[in-house]
Amino acid sequence: MLRAKIVATGSYVPERILNNADLEGMVDTSDEWIIERTGIRERRIANDKQAVSDLAYEASKSALKSVGLRAKDLDLIIVASVSGDMPLPATACILQDKLDAGRAAAFDVNAACSGFVYALSVADAFIRSGTYRRVLVVGAEVLSKFTDWEDRTTCVLFGDGAGAVILEAAEGDRGVLSVKIHSDGSMWDLLHVPAGGSRTPASRETVKKRMHFIKMKGNETFKVAVRTLESLVVETLKEHKLKSSDLSLLIPHQANFRIIQATAKRLNLPMEKVVVNLDRFGNTSAASIPIALDETVKAARVRNGDYILLEAFGGGLTWASALIKW
Ligand code: ACO
Repeated sequence: MLRAKIVATGSYVPERILNNADLEGMVDTSDEWIIERTGIRERRIANDKQAVSDLAYEASKSALKSVGLRAKDLDLIIVASVSGDMPLPATACILQDKLDAGRAAAFDVNAACSGFVYALSVADAFIRSGTYRRVLVVGAEVLSKFTDWEDRTTCVLFGDGAGAVILEAAEGDRGVLSVKIHSDGSMWDLLHVPAGGSRTPASRETVKKRMHFIKMKGNETFKVAVRTLESLVVETLKEHKLKSSDLSLLIPHQANFRIIQATAKRLNLPMEKVVVNLDRFGNTSAASIPIALDETVKAARVRNGDYILLEAFGGGLTWASALIKW
């Protein structure tokens, strides 16, 4: 049976660290509040010149290098992001140019924090159908440039970064076993950027009203996230006749430590089996899972045959999971 197998991972985060003490000097917040409510201690922030494709390029180069592949070997590039270089063209096309991956098709996927798992589902379908053999999937964000640094309810949460995986067609029982994607557009307004699109194009007025920044109803989003992630992971395991104890690792989207803990508790999964890095990187949206996956691989925390569950929740609203046999 043809499956999509992850043969390489890579990641990149910008050098600049913004910690909670720095934020105390910018808005009315405290280190205690941020740690207690989110689990975040610090996050990385891109410099003025860095855009999403720059971060994506570093992560992709590192993934290619780790298995000795050339960019010309890629059939398809998918970038998951909500903070792309420009509205037009797709960031994936800019990345293709930087990598010199002339043979590949390239496009973006917008599913906010669930974007990486959504992009993985597209790559998986292309590979299992036999259309493409080698696909680069990148989750990359520079949310710091869409963050209102005067809004304490959002500016303490987000960070910048990129993670990449290379998937190859392979026979056998190892690889992506299934990917589930879900959306509920009726709650789109819980998390959105009001201006800069065709609904409300950029104008002096929209800039003055700070409408180009992320607006989030955090508490409502939190409640939906806990509820939907619980049923999503249970549904995924049930379909594959697996028990939570069969899982070697859960790699969740890194939005809030309390959401991660609630999901682990529902699964009866000890926290040693849950990958957490939001204390160092904050919520990097579509980049969080591939960064965490790359760190896990580099730390030799995964072995052949391990069952790994990825799960994410984000704006849209969207949520998604992927079950992988490593
Ligand atoms: N510092 C101090 N106080 C704060 C801060 C802050 N940074 N931010 C908010 N507060 C205050 C609020 O004003 C409120 O005060 P009040 O009670 O006087 O009105 C109080 O703290 C509690 O606010 P809540 O919003 O109820 O706090 P909550 O416990 O829900 O935590 C948080 C907020 C961290 C945002 C949480 O709701 C969360 O993580 N939500 C989910 C986010 C998520 O999963 N998003 C999806 C992915 S992101 C994406 O797709 C790009």
